[in-house]
Amino acid sequence: MNVSVGGRRMREQAGDGWLEPVHPEPHTDQQSQLAIIWSARRDMLASWRAADYAAGITDFSLLGRRMVIVNTPDGVRQVLGAGGDLYERKSPQMRRALEFLLGDGLFISDGETWSRRRPLVAEIVGKARVPGFAPLMAQAAQDMVEDWAVRDLSGPVDVLTEMGVLTAEIISRTLFGVQLGRADAQAVIEGFAAYQRRIDAFNVGYLLGFDDGLPVFKTLALRRAVKRIHAVVEKVVEAHLAGQGDHTIMLDMLELRRRRRPDAPVGRDALRDEAATLFMAGHETTAATLAWAWHCLSKAPWAEAALHAEIDLVCGGRPPAYGDVPKLAYARAVVEETLRLYPPVAILARQAARRDRIGDVEVDPAAVVLISPWLLHRSPDLWDHPDRFMPERFMGEERPDAYAYIPFAAGPRTCPGMNFGLTEATLCLATLAQKFRLRPAPGWSVETECRLTLRPRGGLPMMIEPR
Ligand code: HEM
Repeated sequence: MNVSVGGRRMREQAGDGWLEPVHPEPHTDQQSQLAIIWSARRDMLASWRAADYAAGITDFSLLGRRMVIVNTPDGVRQVLGAGGDLYERKSPQMRRALEFLLGDGLFISDGETWSRRRPLVAEIVGKARVPGFAPLMAQAAQDMVEDWAVRDLSGPVDVLTEMGVLTAEIISRTLFGVQLGRADAQAVIEGFAAYQRRIDAFNVGYLLGFDDGLPVFKTLALRRAVKRIHAVVEKVVEAHLAGQGDHTIMLDMLELRRRRRPDAPVGRDALRDEAATLFMAGHETTAATLAWAWHCLSKAPWAEAALHAEIDLVCGGRPPAYGDVPKLAYARAVVEETLRLYPPVAILARQAARRDRIGDVEVDPAAVVLISPWLLHRSPDLWDHPDRFMPERFMGEERPDAYAYIPFAAGPRTCPGMNFGLTEATLCLATLAQKFRLRPAPGWSVETECRLTLRPRGGLPMMIEPR
């Protein structure tokens, strides 16, 4: 089925036992520079041409700015995988788009600030912490099961918001020991949706020659969105710093760090910026992943049946727990395949610190280097049936090339919350799918939209049915 929504053509096709879930149709015609900028400002994925999906290193100029698109595993290894500081710096567009919200938090910092704080954040959310966090994740998912069980589910429910409420609650309980509650979670979600809608992630000033980009125009609506998010994050962080939560992981880490590195202390203000970054980076991405997973499952009955069979076999009637995660291989494969098709961070943009060469292309420090997990994960040169939803790709012993599959990026700036996010998404999916099945809402056309993250445009209304 091909549908045209808001002037953009979306493609979705299905047959017996296969599904190609919704994605924008690549352009085949030549577009003017203005048309590219216009459509990319609305949606970063809307202007790709069919040729951009091919594996390769290409460059072109947009207004006066050189863009280098790196779409090969070797190129990705060179840019992201290499140690050192050559491609450590995020592009000015990304920094400008997020600085109003995240201050100098880890996601957009570089140099001394980044290298001092990265080990601290990695200790707070890293792999070693996941077993301790998992019971809190499972409990939050179970609370949502109980909430849905008593809700009026006769009409469509926005599943993107529901998943945001769940993952924000998980971040709040795990990292800050504080119960968030639906009202505050919803304020953050609505605030971030408004922020994404209004922020200029493209920064035409940068394209026109301002090497650091131009400060974003802080409209009243943008300020309001930031204020709503900050109010909730500050409330949670203050409660934690005042020792009011169930545990004091962040404060403990700060103390540990102070003892280990008395020469390089991390102050409370820095911790507050990092807390805001963790709050946002740690819930939005997993929420989008879960929402897309429900969308795919609702259109792929054979995959949904395999998921249900696995949950019933592994857990019987009891709620899924952390110990089940290694046995929930299909649930995990659904998550990984969803991350391939809908990587929440669909564009990784970097600025070279010095002159370099990638393949045959010269890279100078004023250029922007673009790696798009979206393009890489859908390249016909790297994947069989790249646009199809096939969780079985992730079931065997064989893993995709580490630099062809990069939903969490790669190298020194790889997502420190990777294990957290994968465990969380698997547990949440299994817990909710044990009791409910989600169906497409009648009359709603799902569309992709990528601004800061890749989400279903306008939310994801679905019917929730008890199993
Ligand atoms: C499915 C879930 C997730 C996905 C797909 C994801 C993806 C990513 C990606 C691609 C980056 C690198 C961005 C870039 O280089 O431009 C990143 C960075 C980051 N992520 Fe995640 N993430 C997820 C979950 C989480 C969670 C659960 C947390 C924390 C609890 C987290 C915290 C962070 C932080 C702090 C950074 C910045 C790291 C740095 O710059 O050194 N993420 N994430």
